[in-house]
Amino acid sequence: MNFPALIEAKRDGQSHTRDEIREIVQAYTTGDIPDYQMSAWLMAVYFQSLQPEETRALTLAMRDSGTVLEWPDDPRPLVDKHSTGGVGDKVSLVLAPILAALGFRVPMISGRGLGITGGTLDKLASIPGFKTQLEPDQIISQVQDIGLAIVGQTSTMVPADKRIYALRDVTGTVPSIPLITASILSKKLSEGIGTLVMDVKFGAAAFMKTPGEARELAQSIVELAQNCGLKTTAFLTDMDTPLGMAVGNWLEVKEAVRCLDCYGPDDLQTLTVDIAATLLVETNSRLTIAAARQRVLESLTSGKPRATFNEMVKAQGGDLAALEAQLGTNSTAPVIMDLETPDEGFITRTDAQIIGEVVRDLGGGRMTQEDEIDHAVGLDEIAKPGEPFGVGSVLARVHARDKTSAQHALDRLKQAFEFQDEPFESTPLIHDRIC
Ligand code: URA
Repeated sequence: MNFPALIEAKRDGQSHTRDEIREIVQAYTTGDIPDYQMSAWLMAVYFQSLQPEETRALTLAMRDSGTVLEWPDDPRPLVDKHSTGGVGDKVSLVLAPILAALGFRVPMISGRGLGITGGTLDKLASIPGFKTQLEPDQIISQVQDIGLAIVGQTSTMVPADKRIYALRDVTGTVPSIPLITASILSKKLSEGIGTLVMDVKFGAAAFMKTPGEARELAQSIVELAQNCGLKTTAFLTDMDTPLGMAVGNWLEVKEAVRCLDCYGPDDLQTLTVDIAATLLVETNSRLTIAAARQRVLESLTSGKPRATFNEMVKAQGGDLAALEAQLGTNSTAPVIMDLETPDEGFITRTDAQIIGEVVRDLGGGRMTQEDEIDHAVGLDEIAKPGEPFGVGSVLARVHARDKTSAQHALDRLKQAFEFQDEPFESTPLIHDRIC
């Protein structure tokens, strides 16, 4: 393969054949194409985009770079959900145990953080001992056994996405509709599932800034997924404001566990329940969405999903006693500082982009592929649009490694909030559904 010629062709807006795309994916996965050339090709794709046929070829080549899971006969439907990435988005941690408790099988392949958006794998890695790299036969046996596994790409499961995802993260090539479509669907198709819900985010901290762009991405994913035999519904959800009240790897696990314990927060619980209910309806056409929501809420309050979460932690090597001890502490970071209001009024904006950047700069995200994440740092008690506050109310709590970084975070965080004197009604979280 003459890869420089293919880079030039894409730079000049020409299309690749299916075989050319397969060769590019294979060669990059085996290390025969260096990062600098792949970065140039990704940037060419970012600017010139891909035709639907090229996106399909890229998706299938990435799926086939590793094992595609094959499942034993079992009445329990195989389902999953994936998000295009947001700040404070810990839905997967709450949803997967709920789905397993409802009788689904959930072989969830997730990613690390991308840009300022958090990654489910980085969050789970804040649980002492938790392993996110399982071999295909381990994933199958764990899912058959307890109903779920949350794992990452490996050298045997979608290795092409593992490498390309990490490279895109640090080369400014994430917000591309064909690259996001291929990255997500290569993972989901390799799971061998039958039904998927996509959470496509738009807003300040999302890769798609407007509902229109998010709709385009959702349509790209839904059409290709259906074309590959994967029944898919997409939610379009707001990402101007962080989801939940905590951002940062450990703090998000803690909030997810509280949600499994039925303590909310409302936005996280509502979105999770709606996605679970949608999967119930998609796999059982006799159920109404209202009845499905009711069933999900009953399951949540029964405590079974929380017990299933613990089973998953144990099955994946996590130390349950250490997890419980961490849950009982106020923070795993050495320094905590509050951002307080000088005034009184109503919050009109809690900027997810600034909050994502603050958490990344505290050490909770990456700037280069090799950066180590600090799982302890982040923000919690984040106040949300529409909330009233008085003098001295807490707008957010900073968890930091040291006083200097905490002070920097506080200074920057002041720009994340806007206020007014009159009551303010926040915009709905779920904007639309596409199927
Ligand atoms: N999530 C993924 O898995 N891939 C992307 O490219 C973006 C979000």
